[in-house]
Amino acid sequence: NAVDHVAGYDYGAAGLATSPVTMKELDLLKQTITFDSEDARYLRVAGSVLEDQTESIVNLWRGVINSMPHLACYFKDAQGNPDEEYKSKVKERFKQWIIDVCTKPYDQDWLNYQHEIGLRHMHEKKNKTDGANAAPYIPMRYVLAFTAVVNDTIKPFLVKKGHSLGVIEKMYKAWCKAVLLHVTLWTQAYCNAEW
Ligand code: HEM
Repeated sequence: NAVDHVAGYDYGAAGLATSPVTMKELDLLKQTITFDSEDARYLRVAGSVLEDQTESIVNLWRGVINSMPHLACYFKDAQGNPDEEYKSKVKERFKQWIIDVCTKPYDQDWLNYQHEIGLRHMHEKKNKTDGANAAPYIPMRYVLAFTAVVNDTIKPFLVKKGHSLGVIEKMYKAWCKAVLLHVTLWTQAYCNAEW
């Protein structure tokens, strides 16, 4: 596996819990987001456009987080200093996530890792993977709200490889739906049966 070197990246790992979300529920959620085969196709195109830009993309997102103390605190240690080791380890997984969004099939391994990422933003697993000592969970409202940033900022990266405006729009639409699908699955970690 080419990404074995990404510390703490446990996609497909044997020890990973099975998502409480069923494949049937996933299918209905995809239908609700109107994620279709065209979106799947253009996500793959987006992947080829974004794969060598992940460092810049994550740096941009990090800049937004760093500019807001109420978000930056989730990467700070108990003394209130930025935890650089934590930040750099999470950054590598974040870069891998961009590739995964565009390339991974929505199968059971994928579903299980969405469950894991949800838990890593929540009490159960935040800080655990990297042995960090930052705030114990990210409030769900910020996870939801940050989708605005993740979606808004992707456009300038999608336009960089000379695709037509029509193709760029389709990549963008597919990206936005896919991100919403991911984040919606992550909210399961915050919810009861009503999820
Ligand atoms: C971890 C994406 C919102 C803070 C991660 C990871 C990804 C991710 C892909 C790494 C998962 C892995 O371990 O493989 C996103 C996306 C968001 C979002 C797409 C919203 C659309 C936020 C917000 C914050 C935040 C609002 C607050 C600052 C963190 C932290 C970690 C993390 C601290 C490390 C968790 C750990 O201890 O393992 N996020 N995130 N995230 N994210 Fe987010």
